[in-house]
Amino acid sequence: MTDLIDQKQAALAAIDASTSIDALEEQRVAALGKKGWVSLALKTLGQMSPEERKEAAPAIQAVRGEVAGAIDAKKAELEAAALEAQLASETIDLTLPAPDQPKGSIHPVSQVMDELAEIFADLGFSVATGPEIEDDWHNFTALNMDESHPARAMHDTFYFPDKAADGAASSSEAVGQQKRMLLRTHTSPVQIRSMKDEGAPVRLIAPGRVYRSDSDATHTPMFHQVEGLVVDEDIHLGHLKWTLETFFKAFFEREDIVLRLRPSYFPFTEPSVEVDVGYSNEGAGKEGGRRVVGGHGDAPGHDWMELGGSGMVNRRVLEFAGIDADKYQGFAFGLGIDRIAMLKYGMNDLRAFFDGDPRWLNHYGFSPYDQPTLSAGVGVRP
Ligand code: DAH
Repeated sequence: MTDLIDQKQAALAAIDASTSIDALEEQRVAALGKKGWVSLALKTLGQMSPEERKEAAPAIQAVRGEVAGAIDAKKAELEAAALEAQLASETIDLTLPAPDQPKGSIHPVSQVMDELAEIFADLGFSVATGPEIEDDWHNFTALNMDESHPARAMHDTFYFPDKAADGAASSSEAVGQQKRMLLRTHTSPVQIRSMKDEGAPVRLIAPGRVYRSDSDATHTPMFHQVEGLVVDEDIHLGHLKWTLETFFKAFFEREDIVLRLRPSYFPFTEPSVEVDVGYSNEGAGKEGGRRVVGGHGDAPGHDWMELGGSGMVNRRVLEFAGIDADKYQGFAFGLGIDRIAMLKYGMNDLRAFFDGDPRWLNHYGFSPYDQPTLSAGVGVRP
């Protein structure tokens, strides 16, 4: 028994002297492990007489309890100390500014689309979308360009391989042609889809990607347009002119915007006009390289730049879309988004828009915080 007391004293001293969880664990194994001295002492109980056992058992159990208690207490102490040390080494100074992380930017085309939506929403327009993989009927026929219409040839269309030509499926040539799939060449088919879905009255813009097989410094196979469509009773060309003028004044953030509506021809509008805006051709290079839009295009040092087409919706288009053309009239317009973005933010090569060059994006891109709003400005670079 005195042995046991000595062993206990030695163990308690060693436990108390342990400076790590591992050292403590060694002490636990040495005392309480399967072959530890406490466990061996407990095993001797079997060979004892009942009287001896009566005396020895509680004594051994008491030693066991004391050693186990000392180990638990030391373990809690060591763990608390380790946590303290960790907390002390991992302090963060929350008053420091956040580290500068590399971040992406908003492409000028996306920014301009947001600007368009903001301005037109204020005029009561909603934003509509349509598929980029379109069928022949919506892209051409319903816009008053039937099979033989010469205007089709001007669209340099990307067609998909003709399924109808595979045989059995095409019961009639005409049906096959209408279903022919293509990449939409303009946003105008959204006019048809929206009118068919929602009827009249309509007041929408439809910004999006369009595709034509064309490529040089001012043309890319994919580019962006925004379509506008207003259909209601008693709509006339004056509404169109006011809407475009109001839009461009808000977009370029200046009052001296002068538009010129030039007679033109589109199969889906009658009459049709092309929209030009006056700009100063002496201004290029000044004001950070921007061309300065504004003023009369015929004034000295000024010129006209074409921005898109528009007109009164041809009644055949209204009829194709299921609208009562005796009751309703409409105006429509289609503007090149990339073009007005170049004009506003001073880019001079359209191809750079789609190169994905980080240097260009760094220079011309916008911070996600530059949300265009009418109150804070739709296009002022901070
Ligand atoms: N869809 C025409 C194009 O891409 C542009 C256009 C002209 C749209 C006149 C219109 C419009 O809505 O009225 O060339």
